[in-house]
Amino acid sequence: MAMNGGGRKKRERPNILITGTPGTGKTTTCLALAEATNLKHINIGDLVREKNLHDGWDDQFECYLINEDLVCDELEDLMEEGGNIVDYHGCDFFPERWFDYVVVIQTENSLLYDRLSKRGYTGQKLSNNMECEIFQVLLEEAKESYPEDIVVALRSDCIEDIDRNVSTLTDWVRSWGSLS
Ligand SMILES: Nc1ncnc2c1ncn2[C@@H]1O[C@H](COP(=O)(O)OP(=O)(O)OP(=O)(O)O)[C@@H](O)[C@H]1O
Ligand SMILES: [Mg+2]
Repeated sequence: MAMNGGGRKKRERPNILITGTPGTGKTTTCLALAEATNLKHINIGDLVREKNLHDGWDDQFECYLINEDLVCDELEDLMEEGGNIVDYHGCDFFPERWFDYVVVIQTENSLLYDRLSKRGYTGQKLSNNMECEIFQVLLEEAKESYPEDIVVALRSDCIEDIDRNVSTLTDWVRSWGSLS
């Protein structure tokens, strides 16, 4: 393993966090990126359900109450090894050292509104998610939780954006081995 400037061991393959408001296109982007790079896609929502890493169902927010400690314990070994793409609409509870690149996917408000409505979101759930995007909650959370120089915001309004984002990120992954 190579050492980076700080003398810390550098992973052979990077870990990327893809975050953003629900519906912005995280999973769509991750699936294409995993295929292009051979990195492992870890969808936290699916993992929480499959491995019961939650404290029950939250009726108010209509989602599982994620148990952050269980999720972090579950992923520690994989993340230390490197080569993962983590997909989740939150980013402040993962250890900072896990990630080499943090991508916040964003979508123009009216397009996101249409996507979430199409999914059947209404009322409080729809407005909570819209506010999350309007106030750039995930971008702020990412900037507070990780070094600013590894956080990037990428727009995902149309199909061409997905292709462009995946190819930008694929180039970054390919260059990882040669970065010092
Ligand atoms: N750039 C894009 N252009 C057009 N449609 C998109 C784009 N990105 C995603 N979509 C569509 O928007 C919907 C939501 O995408 P996706 O499931 O990838 O979002 P997500 O961020 O993973 O949401 P969640 O947090 O709820 O898992 C899907 O129907 C997807 O096909
Ligand atoms: Mg998803």
